[in-house]
Amino acid sequence: MNNFNYSNPVKIIFGKRTIAHIADEIPLQSKILLVYGGGSIKSNGVYQQVTEALKRHTLFEFSGIEANPTLETSLKAIELIKKESINFILAVGGGSVIDASKFMALGSQASGDPWEILSKGKYPEKALPLGTILTLPATGTEMNDRAVITNKALQDKRSFRTPLVFPRFSVLDPEVTYSLPVRQVANGVVDTFVHTTEQYLTYPDNAQVQDRFAESILKILVDLGPQALKTPEDYHVRGNLMWASSWALNGWIGQGVPEDWATHQIGHELTAFYGLDHAQTLAIVLPGVLESQFEYKMDKLAQFGERVFNLNQPNTKERAKATIDAIEAFFKQMGVGTRLSDYGLGDEVPAKVANRLRERGWVLGEHQRITADVVETLLQSRR
Ligand code: NZQ
Ligand code: ZN
Repeated sequence: MNNFNYSNPVKIIFGKRTIAHIADEIPLQSKILLVYGGGSIKSNGVYQQVTEALKRHTLFEFSGIEANPTLETSLKAIELIKKESINFILAVGGGSVIDASKFMALGSQASGDPWEILSKGKYPEKALPLGTILTLPATGTEMNDRAVITNKALQDKRSFRTPLVFPRFSVLDPEVTYSLPVRQVANGVVDTFVHTTEQYLTYPDNAQVQDRFAESILKILVDLGPQALKTPEDYHVRGNLMWASSWALNGWIGQGVPEDWATHQIGHELTAFYGLDHAQTLAIVLPGVLESQFEYKMDKLAQFGERVFNLNQPNTKERAKATIDAIEAFFKQMGVGTRLSDYGLGDEVPAKVANRLRERGWVLGEHQRITADVVETLLQSRR
């Protein structure tokens, strides 16, 4: 296990009917910007709970944040923030709304072009305070310091990371997830799964707490993911999935261990070019990364298979191979396609994505062995 410093300042308010608590978390004199997406919060009653809780506060609204939030839309919100001297942002939605809000919190304080936060890593010194109400458990953004934004004009999906955007608080009420469409429930489970594997499926490093913690998250997903599809209004299933997704990417399981993240980086290019849901890209790419890096990941794969899928092949190599099959079968069981062709994508995809990496000179993975050529070959195997 490597040395690490770990701090996570996000206050979590978890449980039934907890949205009302936000009134105590945001100073009364604040000028709040309520940020949300395409309107699901209006049909499931969340919007009404928020406005009721904040009836004594000064509230402005910005809606229309799209899935895979864009720079273009976020810049419009930044204009409003400046015009109205907004000093608190309340994000109500899934990862897209929360990420866009993090970008607004930071971008509104930038002296230059806010896109440079993503393109050049040029961070302002401060950000507006931000609170979140999570409606889609998946990304972990409610409890981390990361965000992902797409520059639509450039078809470029980029991430940034700074402790300045840790939310002050996040409300996690599992009941608000009952209204999620099946596709988004499945996406959330797959995204959480792949966050865990990016920090776990590398090579053995004797980080036993992180390993066992990661395995418990994976086991919960494998057990409860299909359950959430069958009995969508089971509070305990939803609650455990929600809390698991926060822990998969609140920084904790990645402390002191090697990390991969190649699946995410390749996946972001698939979304940028073809508009696939984030989790769909991960379900396509992960099995390819695992196969292409098999010799380096074999020991961890075998451990995963034994402890999560209860595989019992005595031979490590065979068990590791069976683990990759079990992962792909799990994604399919969740109803998420694992092949490019499942989304109508064709033969031009591998070269197009690989060329992006070539242009940027990116080499990926925990051993920096995943070159653009490797990406091209592994995507060819995912047609
Ligand atoms: O826009 P609305 O109407 O709210 O509908 C949304 C959207 O259409 C809907 N939805 C959300 N909660 C709902 C609901 N519908 C009914 N009932 C509810 N309770 O779900 C759709 C998808 O929402 P979105 O926020 O796009 O999904 P998700 O949470 O999966 O976020 C994906 C984004 O997060 C980024 C992804 O790249 C992608 O841009 N990620 C952010 C990370 C981070 N900040 O740490 C890490 C992740 O790896 C990921 O990259
Ligand atoms: Zn993800």
